[in-house]
Amino acid sequence: MAVLLGIDLGTSGVKVLAIDEKGHTLATAMESYPLFQPKPGWSEQNPVDWWAGVKKAIQKILSDPALANTDVEALALSGQMHGSVFLDDQNQVIRQPLLWNDTRTFPQCRSINEKIGEDNLLKFAGNPALEGFTLPKLLWLRDQEPAHYERLRTLFLPKDYIVFRLTGKLCTEVSDAAGTLLFDVKNRCWSKEICEALEVDTAILPEVLESIDVVGHLSHEASHETGLPTNVRVIAGGADNACSAVGNGIVREGIVLASIGSSGVVLAHANEMRYDPQGRIHSFNHSMPHNWYLMGVMLSAGLSMSWLKNDLLETDYETINREASEAPAGSEGVLFLPYLSGERTPHRDPKARGVFFGLSGMHRPRHLMRSVFEGVSFGLKDSLELIKSLGVETHQIRVTGGGAKSELWRKILADIFSADLYRVQSDEGPAFGAALLAGVGAGIYRSVEEATDITVHVGDMTRFDKENSERYASIYPLFQSLYRTLKPEYEKAFQLYDNF
Ligand code: XUL
Repeated sequence: MAVLLGIDLGTSGVKVLAIDEKGHTLATAMESYPLFQPKPGWSEQNPVDWWAGVKKAIQKILSDPALANTDVEALALSGQMHGSVFLDDQNQVIRQPLLWNDTRTFPQCRSINEKIGEDNLLKFAGNPALEGFTLPKLLWLRDQEPAHYERLRTLFLPKDYIVFRLTGKLCTEVSDAAGTLLFDVKNRCWSKEICEALEVDTAILPEVLESIDVVGHLSHEASHETGLPTNVRVIAGGADNACSAVGNGIVREGIVLASIGSSGVVLAHANEMRYDPQGRIHSFNHSMPHNWYLMGVMLSAGLSMSWLKNDLLETDYETINREASEAPAGSEGVLFLPYLSGERTPHRDPKARGVFFGLSGMHRPRHLMRSVFEGVSFGLKDSLELIKSLGVETHQIRVTGGGAKSELWRKILADIFSADLYRVQSDEGPAFGAALLAGVGAGIYRSVEEATDITVHVGDMTRFDKENSERYASIYPLFQSLYRTLKPEYEKAFQLYDNF
């Protein structure tokens, strides 16, 4: 039996998934690694930890009895987007990458806008200058750590580093290149205009493949370190959101994906390159040739919940789900603004911060718990509304991600969206999409569409409740106006607390 591996290099850890050609899950393995947040707004990881986690997870999955007497045909990576992996002339990592949720690059974004102009940037890159994107991180290195910048020879994305460790090849692919702000999203190539305007040497930018292209075979060294044979083909793979879209069958217009992972995402497929003239929604290349997608991103979705669980209440998800379900819709007046590390969609504001609003002596932990589910869901509604306002069809909404495994969260999200929500049967996240890309690259499927038609089937549905939905519709304007009211106060607090 031919086996396909999808490897998702996430923010909290790596997941390796093995499927057969019909898309049935054979085995999964996970390893976690640390996230370093040394200052407010900073977020880094160590590629050495990524590689150690990937190796361990591959070794684990290979020892699973379900893979006995099978051959791994091909593998592909999915990865957290935007992180800046800086390599020197020996292909050694120069410093820890700045991750997608790192917002220290506020001054660099301003200077990008000054040098290129916001309208031009949208025209060339389809997106505005956002702190999380890779180009501002590159400019931060140039401004703040010139000695490191001097040594820079290759800039690419987190999962590309793992592809490099597996094959020895330095490359990236369109769906991750799209999130660098150095990419001409329409023409699927590096943008000469942007590189020239910002004096970025194009020699540091590696070859860009399509997601389904073959990078090569596993190197002898990687084979030795992982236990996989050298005849395994490594396919270029994709950004985690593109892979998640593939894995959930978002390969044609009309079906929208809401994902609650560390970040929160609302994503819609696009047959042609479209962008929001106001730059509120991202416009990226899909992992399917000649296809794109539109996406809104919240920086702290699952991250708000894990903060509540680990740091604020020191409890577990079971308790949070149980207690939160005992509070009514609307949390009896408590509203949570989920801007723990600033926000991207729709506010584009690195200085925004989290808020519990409306507290009184009657409130108990259950109200705070439920308000976090609700606040993140309102934030996702912001993105959904923006996508709808661009005239994109939303016939069906599918949900995915760790957060969507919570029945309560699905229920609250359905009520806040005023829409029924669907989950696909094998809800294995971006790793599943990556495994399908591996299958297309290896020639098992003729196209990404064929792969999803064979393997992706709609599973359960969460119905929205009319009464709760009306309640939430009446609260939503307050959720929106709280940010508008606080915007100038965030600015003051930023000055007051010395970049808090
Ligand atoms: C997308 C983004 C996040 C990361 C999380 O623009 O920043 O969704 O990809 O892994």
